[in-house]
Amino acid sequence: MSIRYNENTKQLILETASTCYQMKIDNMGYLNHLYYGPKLGQNDMSYMFRTYDHGFSGNPYDMRNNRDFSLDSMSQEYTSFGVGDFRVNSIAASCSDGSRCAEFRYEGHEVTDGKYSIPGLPSVYDEGGQAQTLIVTLLDTAANIRIKLYYGVFEELDIITRCAEIINAGSEIVWLRKASSVCLELPFGKWDMIHFHGRHCMERQPERVPLFHGIHTIVSGRGMSSHQHNPFVILCDREATEENGPCYGMMLMYSGNHKTEIELDQFDSTRVVMGINDDRFRWELSPNTGFNTPEVILSCANGLTELSHRYHRAIRNNVVRGQYKLSHRPVLINNWEATYFDLNEDKIVSLAKKAADIGVELFVLDDGWFKNRVDDNAGLGDWIPDTNKLPNGLDGLIEKINALGLKFGLWVEPEMVNEDSDLYRAHPDWAMTAPNRAPMMARNQLVLDLSRKDVHEYIFNTLSDLLSKYNITYIKWDFNRPLADVYSHAAPSPRQGEVTHRYYLSLYKLYDRLTKAFPHVLFEGCAGGGGRFDAGMLQYSPQIWCSDNTDPISRLTIQYGTSFGYPVSSIGAHVSATPNHQTGRLTPLNTRGTVAMMGAFGYELDLTKLSEDELSEMKQQIERFKELEPMIHNGLYYRLSSMQESGHYFAWQFVSPDRSRSLLSIVVTNPLANSAPVHVRLKGLDSQTVYSVNGEFECLGSSLMNSGYTFPQLTGDYPAMQLDIVKVK
Ligand code: DGJ
Repeated sequence: MSIRYNENTKQLILETASTCYQMKIDNMGYLNHLYYGPKLGQNDMSYMFRTYDHGFSGNPYDMRNNRDFSLDSMSQEYTSFGVGDFRVNSIAASCSDGSRCAEFRYEGHEVTDGKYSIPGLPSVYDEGGQAQTLIVTLLDTAANIRIKLYYGVFEELDIITRCAEIINAGSEIVWLRKASSVCLELPFGKWDMIHFHGRHCMERQPERVPLFHGIHTIVSGRGMSSHQHNPFVILCDREATEENGPCYGMMLMYSGNHKTEIELDQFDSTRVVMGINDDRFRWELSPNTGFNTPEVILSCANGLTELSHRYHRAIRNNVVRGQYKLSHRPVLINNWEATYFDLNEDKIVSLAKKAADIGVELFVLDDGWFKNRVDDNAGLGDWIPDTNKLPNGLDGLIEKINALGLKFGLWVEPEMVNEDSDLYRAHPDWAMTAPNRAPMMARNQLVLDLSRKDVHEYIFNTLSDLLSKYNITYIKWDFNRPLADVYSHAAPSPRQGEVTHRYYLSLYKLYDRLTKAFPHVLFEGCAGGGGRFDAGMLQYSPQIWCSDNTDPISRLTIQYGTSFGYPVSSIGAHVSATPNHQTGRLTPLNTRGTVAMMGAFGYELDLTKLSEDELSEMKQQIERFKELEPMIHNGLYYRLSSMQESGHYFAWQFVSPDRSRSLLSIVVTNPLANSAPVHVRLKGLDSQTVYSVNGEFECLGSSLMNSGYTFPQLTGDYPAMQLDIVKVK
């Protein structure tokens, strides 16, 4: 049993393999948070319930004679609003009488086997008997708002999922203005926050900062989870390292606007509230209807590595769906950086021939294949092959690609439209534009209003037609601009605050329908690279193009940051040309291959311009990747260097689940003259096993982990090296 209720102490206790989560219903009916952390020998954490004089904080009316009792200092599972908890709140609403307050008290709870699901939203799923669900119901009787708090407890995965359902239990409309997924309290401790910020071509850069008193906000209002702030935050002890120290992860499984507020309050208590961004959000809750928030995946672990491993395992096994989730992902070639829009059948077939010769398995035809798409100013919306570029049509091209032994994949950007397109000319009101206002343009395109049913159906039918008509086994689903001028011409004015979330409900439904109708198709998510790299998208697309920056040296930090929350199998990574198209940097092919092997591996360059030596090196890379892929994608991943400590190299390691095999990779980003060679301590090996190290010598796992390995001097431009560690006995 992962979930228990102690009737005497009114405690609810959730347990995973190594963590414990406790809450308590107090005498007043408030649902207090007691503890989340390592599993405990004894279970009564009631002493964590704090009541002491908080002077200026105020007391609930029925506790007016007990001035110790204040919502403003209590640890709560989900907050009330407008009634004296002046910290960041979980929820905000206004009632038909204009009041904007509610105070929630316990109404009941139930425990069920299995994992709850959330209507219309992606969530971590139970593979059968892995999870239990707790639902705690809270009620405010004046505003008539009921809240159901959902907890999914995955014992073996060591994660707890949470979300909330907010229900209008009255007879008048309630306007929901904020509806967070969770409130997590860390009443004691000094914490660092690690978050993942960035920009286009430089996503998920980790930043670690000590919390100061006040509110830290990690937010996206761009209508996408964004390049700028990933919906994943870690709070860790000031002293925490990869190996040790309390670390808490909170990952929002959502691809739209999000917000995480972390408040260190006047009493040195930390509260984290995470969910949909409330900016410009307003949801009409008519009587007897509910609003479901997206899910947050919580985990807590000793050290950052263990925390990452838990997220990797949960996402790989219980978020990603479909036949590709744990199986081989085809090594692909994408023509984007080889041709950009200047493609034609001859060029594509020549590229495909070279790719087939070196062992590539899938050809991906990127942007530019459809009518009027000579550059990025026209054509989006009209998904009809351009017969100037492809005189034999898409089927003629696919036949030739298939005849080379390659599968065929296609790029689409279905959520967008250009003004210069037949679709826009026929349905200008399908684009998101605000009345009487010229819209913001980005890449000269507009966003289709997916909150509309007709738009949803149009996109579903268009993609279904393409997938039914042609032999396509892979789709790269791109999304190249943020949402602005958010307005639906199909929604009444009081409901415009719902449009962005309805957009995402419709997008998830679209993905759900398509992945069910075409289960053999591998979807790769993309949003100008990694602008929508989140657990919500990963439910439908097992891999996501990690960044439009294909420079291996830039990729080192992008992939390093991404690895804190997301598994290697989700990271789309390609070997591209040198000099690199984004940075102009020259790097050796070995380095480019080494870095791209930390991901769903592929190529994106003009192979017809390469020498036989380069092609033969690539052939070896592909053979090597295919052999190591089960370990790289489904094994354990270790960061051996940190951005803070090792300024001149990056090292990382893959270990097979049975610890019989490992691959250690290093890239030296700044070779130092006359310096000590790089030395690393390996991780995750079996200490008593004898391993062969690159076939050069044998030694015990304990030696490699305690004493470590010293690399030879690696000099020149960005040298890389891979070390094979194979069990001997
Ligand atoms: C942005 C993507 O991230 C690129 O890989 C490429 O597909 C272009 N869009 C095409 O327009």
